[in-house]
Amino acid sequence: MIYKTLKGFSDIYGDDISLWHSLESIISNLMNLYGFSEIRTPILERTELFIRGVGDASDAVGKEMYTFNDKSTPPESISIRPELTAPVARAFIQHDIGKQQLITKWYYVGASFRYEQPQKGRTRQYHTFGVELIGSHSAIADAEVISIGYDLLKLLGINNFKLRINSLGYKEERIRYREALVDYFNSIKSQLSEDSKNRIESNPLRILDSKNEYDAIACVDAPSILDFLNEESLEHFNRLKNLLDENEVEYIVDKRLVRGLDYYTRTVFEFQTKSLGSQDALGGGGRYDNLIAEIGGNQTPATGFGFGMERLILVSKLENGLNVKGNNCFVYIVSLGEKAQLISSRLAHKIRLSNKSVEMDLMNRSMKAQLREASKLNCKYVIIIGEDEIETSLALVKNMETWEQKNIAFDEILNELNF
Ligand code: HAM
Repeated sequence: MIYKTLKGFSDIYGDDISLWHSLESIISNLMNLYGFSEIRTPILERTELFIRGVGDASDAVGKEMYTFNDKSTPPESISIRPELTAPVARAFIQHDIGKQQLITKWYYVGASFRYEQPQKGRTRQYHTFGVELIGSHSAIADAEVISIGYDLLKLLGINNFKLRINSLGYKEERIRYREALVDYFNSIKSQLSEDSKNRIESNPLRILDSKNEYDAIACVDAPSILDFLNEESLEHFNRLKNLLDENEVEYIVDKRLVRGLDYYTRTVFEFQTKSLGSQDALGGGGRYDNLIAEIGGNQTPATGFGFGMERLILVSKLENGLNVKGNNCFVYIVSLGEKAQLISSRLAHKIRLSNKSVEMDLMNRSMKAQLREASKLNCKYVIIIGEDEIETSLALVKNMETWEQKNIAFDEILNELNF
């Protein structure tokens, strides 16, 4: 039996890992510029956190969550996180962060799991880069978060994307809107897909972002949430638009954007691309002013987003943003024979302790094979230690960029590696 990764899971290695490192370093620099600090939460949480926090009407929790009973008595229902906003909100409450500071700015990069049908840009284990800005009611917090996403895409050389924004108001506004939607969808029921027909009563808002083409046509004349917003919500939305204009962040107001998770209030947004086929969301998020209270904390406003790391890498690669970095080998030590190996090994250790990278032969290969390897690795220096060198206690050191070469005493090599 040859073991393979589970369907929808993958190993990351080789050139890809270099892209991941570049992306991670762009993210941590950007987060530094915006003053966000990192939070790492566990992969497992109580199932109830996601049911209460995200809502089991959402696909991520209701249909796609990996859930099991642990070994305690009585057993407890545990879930592998399908997203990270609810865990971060849980951490905010658990550590009483709201009492220590007015505003909390956290970011994270971590694995998330959803039992979905894998396809291009969609896997069962994926990684999220997310930010959560907790404590501000103001539209300026939404604008700040959206600007981070916008800057990230630009830094990754991703230009073919659209930012869509909408407002979902608060519960009372949504209840009135929902009634109008149910009436509308019932009046055109025969034009809807079977899935959407079943959603008219349970989750009519989700019909608005159905990927089915007949649903899309049927939704063109659907009532707009923006006509159901109260004055404050409208003002919040207008303020957000002004701030984005001021920051030169281009956006489209999309009255059909509803997002798949249940905790959103007022602002929602999504960065979409055409490069990933039907999986068009590079990232998305919004305001969730009631989530923290709903899972047991004080009423605390918050806003944030999540980007799929795999999707960012795929699209950045397509648009020639992220490139695989060459290796950074500084020295290759060619050694011939057991005695030379001892000297090489000691030398390699010394050079590495001085913070320079060293590669050497680990298979007793011929001089020719070792030199071939050194040239493949693009090292700056090659040091050769063979029988002649042992006899004279002088190694042959070559600068591979200038082709200069010198004979240097073994103990002096470290000091001399700068010609
Ligand atoms: P989400 O839209 O469910 O939001 O996921 C965020 C991003 O994760 C998506 O835009 C997409 O790029 C990526 N993603 C989601 N599912 C998959 C998958 N199966 N395979 C690959 N990539 C995927 C959230 O999770 C919210 N927690 C975002 C948020 C943070 N809202 C407020 N704060």
